[in-house]
Amino acid sequence: MQDEKCKVQNAKRGLKMAQPQAAVLLNEAAVHLGKNGIEEAVLNAQWLLADALGVERLDLLADLSLTVPATALRRFKKGMILKERGLPLAYILGWQNFRGLKIKVDSRVLVPRPETEELAGLAADYLRGLGGPLTVMDYGAGSGAIGFWLAHEFSSLKLTAVDRSAGALSNARENAAALGLSARVRFQRAASVAAIAGRFNLIVSNPPYIPTGAIAGLSPEVLSEPRVALDGGGDGLTVAKKLTADAPARLKKGGALIMELGEAQAKILLALMPDKIWKEKRLFKDFNGVKRFVFGIARGGI
Ligand SMILES: C[S@@+](CC[C@H](N)C(=O)[O-])C[C@H]1O[C@@H](n2cnc3c(N)ncnc32)[C@H](O)[C@@H]1O
Repeated sequence: MQDEKCKVQNAKRGLKMAQPQAAVLLNEAAVHLGKNGIEEAVLNAQWLLADALGVERLDLLADLSLTVPATALRRFKKGMILKERGLPLAYILGWQNFRGLKIKVDSRVLVPRPETEELAGLAADYLRGLGGPLTVMDYGAGSGAIGFWLAHEFSSLKLTAVDRSAGALSNARENAAALGLSARVRFQRAASVAAIAGRFNLIVSNPPYIPTGAIAGLSPEVLSEPRVALDGGGDGLTVAKKLTADAPARLKKGGALIMELGEAQAKILLALMPDKIWKEKRLFKDFNGVKRFVFGIARGGI
């Protein structure tokens, strides 16, 4: 009887137990993360425990009665500490899902966001209408998520992945190799589209677009991502404006530029795209109804 009482008390202690039950551990971890101001505490705890156990999150949820072995518990506790310190979950897990592709991420690159999955989807819609061999530039490629997903979708696609950050390019190279795409990708370190040889059917970009003055107010999680991936200069549009000015000379006749920007920025940028250079200029909304994506087809001959 005394033993039973002990067991219940231990179960209530969750994290402190030698071999706790997953349900008890998850519950305590979620409360703990929540108290420490971590958003989506329940989801974070679930992902961390599934990772520590080496199982899929949904498989873990299907059997929360399982006992967590000591090695998994140690790994889980380590993950919890990193999460409490404000590290993005994707950095702790070492990967981020991007439209079904497992993209390796760490502190060299921005964690790809859901909005960027939408950008990649819009880019694919445009490419689907073209047919034939495709040449695409992912400008500010970071982990390479956008370009690699497109290359994965279109077997005839040749990708040029450009980034000014050597660290980002090394991460992108690792991803291309892991996804079996290296043979179709050219990597180039550059800080300007003008430095890239060739002409493209499409330039797709998620440039850094946070205004410098807003950086200090970002969450610790976002601040642990590379500054070069965030900081878009005074109005947030420094890289985007230069890209828009340089892109037409790198596009094939009728080639397109599509880019992700922040709220209220896309409209400003569209107004900077002259009609004599760009036709079919338009903005696309994201799932939240924010006009976030700028799209333009170059008239060509530049
Ligand atoms: C917002 S991140 C996007 C990363 C990735 N494309 C994604 O969507 O997850 C911007 C990327 O642009 C790169 N970058 C910043 N300024 C640049 C520039 N002037 N030229 C090329 N790349 C740049 C950064 O290193 C970073 O990898």
